[in-house]
Amino acid sequence: MPQMTRVVTSISEMRAASFEARSKGKTVVLVPTMGCLHDGHRALLKKGRAEGGLLVMSLFVNPSQFGPAEDFASYPRDLDRDLKIASEEGVDIVFAPDAGEMYPPGFSTWVEVEGLSNRLCGASRPGHFRGVATVVLKLFNAVQPQKAVFGLKDFQQFRIIERMVRDLDLPVEVIGVETVREPDGLAMSSRNSYLTPDERMAARAIPDSLRAAREAVGAGVQESRKIVEKVKKIIEGEPLAVLEYIKVCDGESLEDSEEASSGSVLFLAVRIGKARLIDNTKLVQ
Ligand code: PAJ
Repeated sequence: MPQMTRVVTSISEMRAASFEARSKGKTVVLVPTMGCLHDGHRALLKKGRAEGGLLVMSLFVNPSQFGPAEDFASYPRDLDRDLKIASEEGVDIVFAPDAGEMYPPGFSTWVEVEGLSNRLCGASRPGHFRGVATVVLKLFNAVQPQKAVFGLKDFQQFRIIERMVRDLDLPVEVIGVETVREPDGLAMSSRNSYLTPDERMAARAIPDSLRAAREAVGAGVQESRKIVEKVKKIIEGEPLAVLEYIKVCDGESLEDSEEASSGSVLFLAVRIGKARLIDNTKLVQ
């Protein structure tokens, strides 16, 4: 029988629970989420469960990381289902503050991770990573974890959080978990639920194109321009898919790379119907 998960909504109660666990020598591990949990989130929770004593999952659809024309209002929410999954995965506390708890009236302090936040998704979603960095720092302050687990599906987000932790001397170990995929290769995402059956079929072009990019590099293609052309052709061959960007970047700095090398990552963002889907792959395995 899975244990009952405790739900905490106030920052002060969350801090007290964390303080109590830490004073007993337990390691506090945080897995931040926006809910609508899927097997990708489950993989993070399993990693978190294996890493520490008190496993906290935050569940907060963070308004400050959505642009005015984005899907904040329609973002899928299913608290009962999420609580069931959290308890199945051995989560001790679900920290689920409301927007007023996280952003009191007059809130005006923001974390900007410069450079890394402006490229790739940052270019098409201005302010997005400022919202992410700010909420993650606030979640760290509320939960006081020694470790925090994030998915490498959101690779740019992962690098930004690592940089914030380093630059601001946060006493948190950031742990990355590989992308969990559907059987046809599509990365799991809460936003996949926006896809109609036809759009879901079309979305296969994304993992297919990533595979083609890896194969091209495996066959000796090094020039990023040629790799991008290959990926572009596959995505553009799918009439329901609208390409936002494809880039080969250095996996550390996220700066554009002319040529694929061992540290290179290919990033892409594609719109299909109402969903904006992102994915990435290392080019040299
Ligand atoms: P959300 O999209 O709910 O994702 C929560 C965590 O799950 C992130 O670390 C994300 O990278 C990871 N994740 C999502 N899909 C995954 C997959 N297919 N495989 C592995 N991990 C996956 O990312 C956010 O929420 C928010 O920006 C957040 C960090 C919670 C701040 O609001």
